[in-house]
Amino acid sequence: MIKKLASHLGEYKRAAIITPLLSALEAIMDVLLPLLMSYIIDQGIEKGDMDAVIKYGLLTFLVAAIALVLGLSAGRFAAKASAGYAGNLRDAMFERIQHYSFTNIDKFSTAGLVTRMTTDVTNVQNAFQMLMRMCVRAPVHLVFALIMSVMINPHLTGIFLVAMLFLLVVLGCIMLPTTKIFDRVFRNYDNLNASVQENVTAIRVVKSFVREKHEDDKYTRACQDLYNQFVKAESRLSFNNPSMLVAIYGCNLALSWFGAHFVLDGVITTGQLNALFGYVMNILASLMMLSMVFVMLSMSVASCRRIIEVLDEKTDLPPAQKPVDQVQDGSVEFDHVTFKYKHGTGSPVLSDITFRIRPGETLGVIGGTGSAKSSLVQLIPRLYDVDSGAVRVGGVDVRDYNLDVLRQEVSMVLQKNVLFSGTILDNLRWGDENATEEECMEACRLACADEFIQRFPDKYNTWIEQGGTNVSGGQKQRLCIARALLRKPKILILDDSTSAVDTATDAKIRQAFREKLPGTTRIIIAQRISSVQDADRILVLDNGRIDGLGTHEELLATNKIYQEVYNSQTQGGGDFDKQGGED
Ligand SMILES: Nc1ncnc2c1ncn2[C@@H]1O[C@H](COP(=O)(O)OP(=O)(O)OP(=O)(O)O)[C@@H](O)[C@H]1O
Ligand SMILES: [Mg+2]
Repeated sequence: MIKKLASHLGEYKRAAIITPLLSALEAIMDVLLPLLMSYIIDQGIEKGDMDAVIKYGLLTFLVAAIALVLGLSAGRFAAKASAGYAGNLRDAMFERIQHYSFTNIDKFSTAGLVTRMTTDVTNVQNAFQMLMRMCVRAPVHLVFALIMSVMINPHLTGIFLVAMLFLLVVLGCIMLPTTKIFDRVFRNYDNLNASVQENVTAIRVVKSFVREKHEDDKYTRACQDLYNQFVKAESRLSFNNPSMLVAIYGCNLALSWFGAHFVLDGVITTGQLNALFGYVMNILASLMMLSMVFVMLSMSVASCRRIIEVLDEKTDLPPAQKPVDQVQDGSVEFDHVTFKYKHGTGSPVLSDITFRIRPGETLGVIGGTGSAKSSLVQLIPRLYDVDSGAVRVGGVDVRDYNLDVLRQEVSMVLQKNVLFSGTILDNLRWGDENATEEECMEACRLACADEFIQRFPDKYNTWIEQGGTNVSGGQKQRLCIARALLRKPKILILDDSTSAVDTATDAKIRQAFREKLPGTTRIIIAQRISSVQDADRILVLDNGRIDGLGTHEELLATNKIYQEVYNSQTQGGGDFDKQGGED
């Protein structure tokens, strides 16, 4: 795990090595100070030698100044290394996530990924900063201070050892259970973040279902849990200081008692006793620091693990051995395809699907909710891989294509589509970054988006909010279609992409496609028969199997499901969408 994490240090490796070195030197300087003080007392004050006082005084000042400079530089390098490291980690995670397949994305929740990239990375950043400074500084302090005090007087050092043992036991008793609480705290953080993300993203739904109170209570409960656990953990930690003080004052008392006797007996000098007082502080403070490092590290282990999970996630779409760089034509062939979601129920969503679409043909796909229409078309641009059988585009298995080339030629308007913050033009140019304004307008005319864009005061420069919240559902769908059209793909897939568009506009879009995109293979998933009835052929899906394939007339004559849907949509007031259209 450490090796894996360390590999992301990159250009901050130097700073990460310099920091502990500087910290170690700083600790050595710190340890020298009590010794110099003892010289001032013994050689200067006791003997009344002013020169010695000045000489050692200046030396003390110099050592303290060096310690200060070392400390400051260590702090600077530590900040640089840890902040840079966190940046690298975030970059690496972001880059990794960009390469995730849909299956990988199914595995992590969005809220989980966000927490991993923010809170977890910050935890690791803090722990790393602490590690670089304290993990070296504290042991160096401890060891050198112990050596110094043994050199002064091994007997009196026994007092330190007793105090250290006491502190170790007490800190151990406090810290070990506390780390367990912190572990739980961070898991709760995840839930809290998930709840915030879900709620805020779906705030409109929350409001329309008048669930504010319920959501508010839920959030308060999550906060209260977190509060309780934090208070519990922190109140345990608050015993640290008193026990530290007990150890320090205990040591001081014992040192004063035994030390005074030793001084009177001439075993040690007053200056040396003074130095021992300084070392007590050094040693016990180092122990305290180490215990804090321990808590911090154990807190960050969970975060490290969660970060590595993201970094280690392998995309499950293996690249082709000899990638094909050109899609010959817009033909699509499903050959005995079976497919199931890896993170789904485990049973196949599509079973033994076989059919063929000619280049330039229009295929309508119809079927009940959950009949796997979306799952079927997602296999064409290889958003998922089949479990058995093969999907071929232009006569070549999709697994043999260079993925970028395939997706360039298979343009898909997803059922749950989003726009990004930026102008309309920016959004359209996701389809083709080099598209001219005229080309963008042409695509919008085909998708019947031009008419409403022209009514916006800023026209094509209208700002779209994150997620496209400031355009209506139907407008968003039409922009998404225009964006897909700009790709000038060989195959265009519309997954329920005109569901929020009124029937008349829907018909206009289809007509524009027929006239302006005659060579493009079109696959149109729809709930309304009217959206697919003029397609060359229609595929009826039922529960992941093909129930019928033929023209509108053929299916109307032979297919039971198609007849039922047709009857339900034409009888009893007809197409509801006619009243439901926007603008
Ligand atoms: N990402 C996923 N992970 C696991 N299971 C999924 C996933 N997406 C869909 N499913 C399951 O696969 C089945 C088919 O879903 P699919 O989205 O293909 O249906 P659909 O025909 O497009 O439905 P709709 O008309 O509502 O869009 C459903 O049972 C669904 O629960
Ligand atoms: Mg669907």
